[in-house]
Amino acid sequence: MMLSMVPPGPRGVPILGMLPAVRRDPTGVFMRAAQRFGDVAYFKIGSRQGYLITNPADIRHVLQDNARNYHKSPLYQKLRMSIGNGLLTSEDDFWLRQRRIAQPAFHRQRVSALAGVMAQAARETADEWQTIADDGRAVDISDEMMRFTRTVVLRALLGGDLGPFASKIDQAWVVINEHVGNSFWSLGIAERFQRAKARQFEEARLVLRQAVDYVVNERRRNPSHNADLLSMLMDARDEETGARMTDEQLRVEVTTFLLAGQETTSLALTWTWFLLSQHPAARQRLELEIDTVLAGRAPEYGDLANLPYTRMVVDEAMRLYPPAWGFSRQALADDTLGGFRLPSGWLAFVIPYVLHRLPAYWKDPDAFDPERFSPERSAERPKFVYLPFGAGPRQCIGNQFALIEAQLSVATLAQRYRLKLVPGHRVEAWPLITLRPRYGMPMFIESRQVKGQRSNVKSEVNV
Ligand code: HEM
Repeated sequence: MMLSMVPPGPRGVPILGMLPAVRRDPTGVFMRAAQRFGDVAYFKIGSRQGYLITNPADIRHVLQDNARNYHKSPLYQKLRMSIGNGLLTSEDDFWLRQRRIAQPAFHRQRVSALAGVMAQAARETADEWQTIADDGRAVDISDEMMRFTRTVVLRALLGGDLGPFASKIDQAWVVINEHVGNSFWSLGIAERFQRAKARQFEEARLVLRQAVDYVVNERRRNPSHNADLLSMLMDARDEETGARMTDEQLRVEVTTFLLAGQETTSLALTWTWFLLSQHPAARQRLELEIDTVLAGRAPEYGDLANLPYTRMVVDEAMRLYPPAWGFSRQALADDTLGGFRLPSGWLAFVIPYVLHRLPAYWKDPDAFDPERFSPERSAERPKFVYLPFGAGPRQCIGNQFALIEAQLSVATLAQRYRLKLVPGHRVEAWPLITLRPRYGMPMFIESRQVKGQRSNVKSEVNV
């Protein structure tokens, strides 16, 4: 194969290439290209060019082995404009310094110590749901999950709450997410004319900034003796100069954790509830595991190892609906991918949504089958085809945190409730920065058991 050649790929239209198609249906376009062109497919998207890569060896090369040759792609520049230059968006030495400061807060031991906070928040949500269940009304589960994961991030990592800004932050994040998600694939022309949208975006950024300042100021007023993430960020000193982070840098990092920590995990949970509502056999098996292992008491960190199916359900939900559905890198110098030269400045697209559904690695890929994640079947699968948290040095720092939080909350809530999608509601995945349900996820919350009547649950499960 000649190195100078560009691999085949979808043709698109003159000048804009695949931009219109990618704007319309990004996951569908990447999926069809992978099916038709194989391991490496050429894409021209507006003024940018690059390759969609779906071979685990190439993905490993870009994200891990040759990670130094890559920066995050233009999407992150847009994100940087919204939240600032922090752990998620920065590069090279500056990124490494910020990562080293935050890393100790995410060591397994420390995260497991935070499980009590997560379990408590899940129990509070379960208690609040009782009234909703009694009323028999539907609620949007994505809102419920967002509130839950925000509470967890705030209490576990930032040691506080958002005070008067709590109710405004959801809407602000929807606006920011939509703005960045849409503008990534745009040419920057259309959005300039959308003044109203630009104003909304600025207002949303202000809400976020005020909320974050509130968290930091509260901590300054009441210093904590716990070495949580916020105190690590506030106390960290530069090894050479001894200087602390500036207020602005601190604000950026707190914003990063607030956003990165709530949005993705809440979506993983939302899709989990949706899938369970569509697959009664899996839901029954989950309930059986929870009832047998916990015998009616609320789950704690120590129970997680005995709830493997609960974890498999979460893993499988993130396979079908990876909250971070796709990301990309920009080559700093020429590289070779799948036998083709990738010129410097070009992009490599890594799309977990596509990788997670490739028939070469997943039998019957569209089926919801948590058993795929049994230890035996997982061992048969190559690495780098299941990437909900990315891979390599830029892998998600909150990986363990999110998995413990998800497993604990699914066990706590499924122990008491069964969630049913509002009949006839249209569910569609909406790939912005994250993979949201486009029309929300309205569900009925049904109580599974009246306290003290556990035998009912057992007999239902056995039907
Ligand atoms: C199910 C939940 C989550 C998913 C699916 C997820 C996914 C990801 C992915 C795919 C990346 C890498 C992006 C890339 O390489 O371009 C990432 C990075 C990151 N995530 Fe998560 N994440 C989750 C939860 C969390 C939580 C709970 C936190 C913090 C509390 C967090 C904080 C971060 C940060 C700070 C980064 C940037 C790390 C770096 O570049 O050094 N995430 N996440």
